[in-house]
Amino acid sequence: MSQIRRLDSRLSARIAAGEVIERPQSVVRELLDNAVDAGAKEITLSIRGGGIDEILVSDDGGGIMKDDLPLAVTQYATSKIATLDDLYHLHTMGFRGEALYSISAVSRLTIASSYEGQKPWTMTVDNMVAEDLVPIGPDRGTMVKVENLFSHIPARRAFLKRPSSEGTLCRNTFLAKAMAFEKIHFRFIQDGVLKVDLPVRNGIFDRVMDILTLEENFNRKEFVYLEKKCRDFTIRLVTSLSGIHRSDRSRIRTYVNDRPVDEYALVQAVVYGYGEILPGGAFPWSVLFVDDDPELVDFNIHPAKREVKLRNKAEIHHEIHQLIHSSLPREIPTISAGAGDDDQPLLEPAARSTTSWQDPVFTHDRIKYASGRQGTSHAQQAEAVAQKPRDSAWLEKAKTLFSSPKEERHVTTSVSAQEFWKPDRASFTYLGQAFRLFLVCQKDDALYLVDQHAAHERILFNELRQQRDVQRLLIPLEFEVDPDVDAFLAENSYIYTQYGITIAQKDDRLWELTSIPHSAKENEKKLVSFIQNAVGSEEEIEAGLYAIVACKAAIKAGDTLDDQSAIALLEKVFELEDPSCPHGRTFVIRLSEKELRLMVGRTK
Ligand SMILES: Nc1ncnc2c1ncn2[C@@H]1O[C@H](COP(=O)(O)OP(=O)(O)OP(=O)(O)O)[C@@H](O)[C@H]1O
Ligand SMILES: [Mg+2]
Repeated sequence: MSQIRRLDSRLSARIAAGEVIERPQSVVRELLDNAVDAGAKEITLSIRGGGIDEILVSDDGGGIMKDDLPLAVTQYATSKIATLDDLYHLHTMGFRGEALYSISAVSRLTIASSYEGQKPWTMTVDNMVAEDLVPIGPDRGTMVKVENLFSHIPARRAFLKRPSSEGTLCRNTFLAKAMAFEKIHFRFIQDGVLKVDLPVRNGIFDRVMDILTLEENFNRKEFVYLEKKCRDFTIRLVTSLSGIHRSDRSRIRTYVNDRPVDEYALVQAVVYGYGEILPGGAFPWSVLFVDDDPELVDFNIHPAKREVKLRNKAEIHHEIHQLIHSSLPREIPTISAGAGDDDQPLLEPAARSTTSWQDPVFTHDRIKYASGRQGTSHAQQAEAVAQKPRDSAWLEKAKTLFSSPKEERHVTTSVSAQEFWKPDRASFTYLGQAFRLFLVCQKDDALYLVDQHAAHERILFNELRQQRDVQRLLIPLEFEVDPDVDAFLAENSYIYTQYGITIAQKDDRLWELTSIPHSAKENEKKLVSFIQNAVGSEEEIEAGLYAIVACKAAIKAGDTLDDQSAIALLEKVFELEDPSCPHGRTFVIRLSEKELRLMVGRTK
């Protein structure tokens, strides 16, 4: 007797549904996509019991004809594409004709619709069993209700989280969808309570900010909108200025043709764009929209359409990097209360014009003082100071300082590294560690505060450049790459060789990693995944390697350092040509004795 048999249609439908519908969140994603495709101007999502009990999406779009209702829930039935060619000219979210079919296999699905305002009809399919059509429904648009998800499949239901967690996932999907369509009014109702209401907006910046400020107390002024039109694609980006950042990449969200996607290369392009603006290990809040020619995009690779193949990925990557790099305001006003015997600023973070002072109160004060210079009266300046008196003596000193005749010489520019930095490991006295971040030492007539993590990172990276310690891998690591990366590597593998990373092409799109720098040991997999995705200029590749190799191995902020290690590190720091990371961010602060004395009102 034959061992192979055809599965019955209900079983095969449920297996197929498992690919598309994993949890309530997947239903929300599919129903919202359908409402958007229907041309709706208003979409409301309502869930009960975290979406496990009920999910309801109503829209005011074009609707479904009575005769099409039974078709809509059959497999591979769609109004959105007709030929293979259409798949490469997609302007809709849906294209497989599989979502409603899958949902109907694992729940009780009700679709009520009025086609272009005509008499409405309602159809119900309960776990693949269709009921008769009934002549009721909304006056316009479509209402889709999904009840009792997985009630017939206990094994699937057991995998669901608690309703509150499933509800949060539904909300996240709702917000992710609403982010891209500012011309649609979206509402989210949870257990009968209106939780989110997103009115129509004129521009994407406002919609993104409406959503970001739901969870965070952001000021819109802390974000900017950047846009660039290229031949085949447009980039739109809402992104935070340098004052706001977090320690992971999770708030860099990427969209391709209005669909949220997980595309590492796009996230990486944003991070590279910021390279020199944010401190190491800090990432922005960004929402990136790439609107690409549909012919160059393939979404038909992942059941939840979370992944995308972009034929022009390298070019898009490059343009995102350039856009941020060239357009993001990067100057942070810096204090300088003047008042010295010469024109040196009173207090200045070392080196470059981009600094990374983190204390918001201090930054705020500094901005006030700097703007005072441009025409505010002395009285106003004194008032600005008075707003935050720490003690009255301090206030008096500050007043004297700020009303001194030298005040006109306040400057807001930074001193360049060369003005105070000469490589020299000559004697310094190590004073200790502050905040488990700064190594504090006295050298000549100044105090130096050195960011231990960034400094170590720089030193490790220099060693990497000099290829002091390259290791051959006993077993080379093979990896596959996309065609664009393949072409990139064929021409640019030398960039990696400079850092002791040797890669060789084995076959079409197949490469192997044969040697790595010692400091990248245990990070081979990360390195491979970086190489698999990285395309860009030498500078961009260097920044990426810096993050993987040096940052991982370096002493962390928060590590306690013993005196010996601290002194050894400081010796190396004082030998550096330039105390900044490859992109110009400084990690040394210098406070001269004269400046410090002046700050406490001593002129001698
Ligand atoms: N809210 C709606 N308004 C109007 N028509 C709808 C709506 N929802 C579904 N439809 C119709 O039902 C069809 C089937 O929907 P379904 O979501 O199963 O497939 P799809 O959207 O075509 O493709 P995909 O499986 O990729 O989502 C759609 O092609 C569309 O014609
Ligand atoms: Mg669909």
